[in-house]
Amino acid sequence: ALERTFSIIKPDAVAKNVIGKIASRFESNGLKIVEMQMKHLTQEDAEGFYAEHKERPFFGDLVAFMTSGPVIVQVLEGENAIALNRELMGATNPQEAAEGTIRRDFAQSIDANAVHGSDSPASAEREIAYFFGK
Ligand code: CMP
Repeated sequence: ALERTFSIIKPDAVAKNVIGKIASRFESNGLKIVEMQMKHLTQEDAEGFYAEHKERPFFGDLVAFMTSGPVIVQVLEGENAIALNRELMGATNPQEAAEGTIRRDFAQSIDANAVHGSDSPASAEREIAYFFGK
């Protein structure tokens, strides 16, 4: 089905000057960028976005990293966009990410892992609304 998913190009990838290379992975694999904005997340933005991880031991580091520099927030549209984007990103831990995936090619650690992508239709809807409204 035609879906929309939410993507963040994280501060590490923006700092490494690979916004275009990552956007190109999306575009050349059938995902259309239908919303896009560069934004420096506030503490409140990041805490609210990642609220489901509040009790996890890595929450503080995650929020600190995500507010450490500008990010690109995007909405991607395409057939099976949610699963397709997760396939293109690869495993959360770049050390476990398959060859040819964004995280394998551009990420260095589980925190600085280049991209975020929605993991389900429900989170895509919530995450898109969080940054771009309904
Ligand atoms: P992301 O898809 O943005 O969702 C939460 C982020 O927390 C995740 O990517 C990782 O960058 C980061 N993180 C740090 N440690 C862990 C962990 N042990 N498990 C899952 N995510 C982690």
